Amino acid sequence: MKRTLTTVAAITFFAVAISFAADHEKMHELMMKQGGPKADERRELTMHDPMKVMHKGMMRQHLDTLSEITSALAVNNLKEAADIARTNLGWSKERGEQCSVFEPDKDGSDFTKLSTAMHKQADKLADAAEAGNRDKTLTALSELITRCNDCHKIFRH
Ligand code: HEC
Repeated sequence: MKRTLTTVAAITFFAVAISFAADHEKMHELMMKQGGPKADERRELTMHDPMKVMHKGMMRQHLDTLSEITSALAVNNLKEAADIARTNLGWSKERGEQCSVFEPDKDGSDFTKLSTAMHKQADKLADAAEAGNRDKTLTALSELITRCNDCHKIFRH
């Protein structure tokens, strides 16, 4: 009985080891295709964990907003796209105050510039949608997504 158990444990161990090695090899292959291992050189926002949880929640909300804007544009509802963009992402003094909670430097860093640029781009999208220009609205949406990633490329948690 004891010997059977030992054999089962040994087989399980080798099976896990082989599958780990295969996964590792696939990961290594993918990493080399992406130019090899790199350090994450983005600037860290040194906040407490609960703040990070809150910030990430707000970020996922932003992604939902982009989805809602896209859905409205898909059915040519430009008014709804404008309202969603303006209400959920547009620039305002209150929005600026909210963003400043996450600003890492007392004197202001690129974080504030990048968040302001993103929110102001949402207003440009709303302007284009209110003017009834669907093509311009779609271009503004693409630029808005770029503004999101401008910050993701520089800052991290
Ligand atoms: C001024 C900076 C900034 C802007 C602008 C910004 N983000 Fe982020 N976002 C961050 C940071 C920092 C993180 C954390 C990245 C990490 O995990 O290290 C993040 C994370 C995220 C995440 C991951 C959330 C999770 O649950 O892990 C999503 C999704 C996201 N952002 C969406 C967006 C979208 C959509 C926009 C634009 C509408 C946007 N962000 C604009 C800074 C920004």
